[in-house]
Amino acid sequence: MKPILIVEDEAIMRESLRDWLTDSGYQVETAEEGEEALKTIAEQDFGVAIVDLKLPGKDGIEVLREAKEKRPQLKGIIITGYPSVETAVKAMKLGVMDYLTKPFATDELGKLVEEALGPMQLEIKAEGRVEVAEKAKVEEKAIKWVVEDPREKGIFWPSEELKKKAWVSDGSIYEEADKNPVGFWAVLAGLGLDWYKEWDRAYEANPPYFKWFVGGKLNASVNCLDRHIKTWRRNKAAVIGVRESIDEPAKILTYYDMYREVNKFANVLKGLGIRRGDRVSIYLPMIPEAQIAMLACARIGAPHSVVFSAFSAESLKDRIMDAGSKALVTCDGYYRRGQLVNLKNNADDAVKGTTVKDVVVFERTRQEVNWVEGRDHWWHELMAKANLYCEPEVMDSEDVLYILYTSGTTGKPKGVIHTTGGYLTQAYWTTKWDFDLHEEDVFWCTSDIGWVTGHTYNVYGPLSVGATQIFYEGAPDYPDRGRVWEIIEKHGVTVFYTAPTLIRMFMGWGNEWPEKYDLSTLRLLATVGEPINWDAWMWYFEKVGGGRCPIIDTWWQTETGGTLINALPGIGPFIPTVAGRSFPGTRHEVLDEEGKSLGIDEGGYLVQRGPFCPGMLRGIYKDPDMYKETYWSQYGNEAYFTSDGARLARKDNFRLTGRVDDVMKVAGHRLSTAEVENAIGTHEAVAECAVVAAPHEVKGETPWAFVRLKSGEGSDDLVKELMDQVVKVLGPTCRPDRIIFAEAVPRTRSGKIMRRILKSLVKNEPIGDITTIENPECVDELKKKVGYKGTG
Ligand code: WTA
Repeated sequence: MKPILIVEDEAIMRESLRDWLTDSGYQVETAEEGEEALKTIAEQDFGVAIVDLKLPGKDGIEVLREAKEKRPQLKGIIITGYPSVETAVKAMKLGVMDYLTKPFATDELGKLVEEALGPMQLEIKAEGRVEVAEKAKVEEKAIKWVVEDPREKGIFWPSEELKKKAWVSDGSIYEEADKNPVGFWAVLAGLGLDWYKEWDRAYEANPPYFKWFVGGKLNASVNCLDRHIKTWRRNKAAVIGVRESIDEPAKILTYYDMYREVNKFANVLKGLGIRRGDRVSIYLPMIPEAQIAMLACARIGAPHSVVFSAFSAESLKDRIMDAGSKALVTCDGYYRRGQLVNLKNNADDAVKGTTVKDVVVFERTRQEVNWVEGRDHWWHELMAKANLYCEPEVMDSEDVLYILYTSGTTGKPKGVIHTTGGYLTQAYWTTKWDFDLHEEDVFWCTSDIGWVTGHTYNVYGPLSVGATQIFYEGAPDYPDRGRVWEIIEKHGVTVFYTAPTLIRMFMGWGNEWPEKYDLSTLRLLATVGEPINWDAWMWYFEKVGGGRCPIIDTWWQTETGGTLINALPGIGPFIPTVAGRSFPGTRHEVLDEEGKSLGIDEGGYLVQRGPFCPGMLRGIYKDPDMYKETYWSQYGNEAYFTSDGARLARKDNFRLTGRVDDVMKVAGHRLSTAEVENAIGTHEAVAECAVVAAPHEVKGETPWAFVRLKSGEGSDDLVKELMDQVVKVLGPTCRPDRIIFAEAVPRTRSGKIMRRILKSLVKNEPIGDITTIENPECVDELKKKVGYKGTG
């Protein structure tokens, strides 16, 4: 084994590094400054040089550059307490193994050395080490990762232990990144991902369009799999597919397993004639095959369009038609609360009369399914014949990685387009920094794969960083209300990411459920999807996190590709109901109607300023007008309009207050009132319908439908019929909570329904000015019907 050279002028640092590496069995030489180091390197061959950035005379980068001219095989690691974008770029260009800002705070350095030279020789003192390791494990469980602010109760900061452990703990990263956001992201793209070819230009803006890493070439599946199987991670668990039945063992796939399955499935798709650029729809439940199918698409450059498995056949059909998909990947069915769900029936109804030529069916439940010879293929039969290796397509950074349909304000879902290089860069770094994932962590994001959170934090993020993740098939209350805690205990989950709606549901189920289980492996909690109320935050913090864990409240959208506003674990603060700061390298503001930037505690609209984040949508599939109108018409091309209300709770820290358009968040699911209206409107008895989001204690919001019938009175039977209609057209997630039959709904003189009034009615808010209403008398009737408790 070749020796290691440490080049460090500070004696304490140099000697402690030397002691540590020597203790681990490596042969170590040291130098105090550049010239001396170069002389030593000329005389002796080193495997690794660990070089301080700031040295007397020459800087560490110059030393490595000159050293590499003499010894091209030498692997360099830069260490520094004074990181900057410029020096990181230089280091990256030089091809250093890593650029570490805190060599002592993490065990990253040890891992890099292992990677370069092979494992440390642990035989010596092996027993002692085991003891130490055991002790460290026990202590880790008791660690308090947060401390309460001594002056402001209810505000938390990372503890010294968390600051030491976290990937990022120096708050100056925000200012550093803000000096040059494009340069900052370029460094991250280079450090985080493997590229076949470096980009020519990091950012190119032609508002409202922009590109990242123009000319760069890469493949997302290679970044999620191939590069890990060349390292020790080859045998690391990538996905722990927990089944709904507690009697069925988890399906655990290592990185190598995922690699093999993805390669084979990529060949299956190719065998069906799927080529680069063809779209593939995926309609699968929470089984690892969903992740495999997505990565297989990415491997061959075929954009995927994943559709939430609880969406109806009609919803699936709309999305297949819009995307023009050539193939559909689905399964026979799945289990939900112990019941068999037949997914294939829906799939059959959906593909009729579409562009889909082939349907690949994974066998999960072995239930009886309909079969169309020639069109339908069993997954396992095709896989049995598939080759083990599929050459990945070399994709352009701006090639489409996927389309994901999401609800907007119209009745038609929008196909949000995400491309490859920028998206993956943001997925990688937000996963690593927001959730502070280290090699030993077990990450569990509870989102369904059908939503963007499932795409970024169940596939592209955790797999690109090489994490271990839980992927749970079933319901949170099956077989009982302790299931989530049982999974955390059983698999030793350390980082848990879920939606406020689920937290409120857990609260309602009672403390006894989390109390039954050992949750002490948890060290970080996170939320997404809707604003979190104070009670839910505190309950999560105390009952789940034991008052020890930070809560990272992440704000983002399908459109933004990855998280954008949240506290970073090593920096904080963690404030209930406040998401936090813009991710380094991104900029947000709260504007009023006129576009004036607002100060602390002034309510307005959240916008993102350029350079727009790398993971941002690049458009709406086949609908450029909708793209411009939805996001770039309120404030022009200079500010991306999020459709969210927000205010600054304190300097730089945003509190999000919910959607300001007609999009609802129902139990964390993004749904459109217009789609529900259309579904109800297709019933023959209905003359007119208006749907608004009403507040709900657990789900956050639920749809309430105001329905005017063509004739006659409403009945309980009709309520049921209309609800069934919505379930049939859209799926059970969209079922209205209440249907209110009304003789009239408030409208303007020009005949438009006044939703503002309906919203105030269901929220018990003051009704406000009704002088512009054509038919004000209906308001009193509606007040009675909804049980309005407000005034005015
Ligand atoms: C809402 C989910 C408050 C917001 C990733 C946004 C949030 C919409 C938060 C996007 C949060 C998401 N606090 N509100 N932490 N996270 N939202 O596209 O209204 O399903 O516009 O993406 O969810 O929902 P989507």
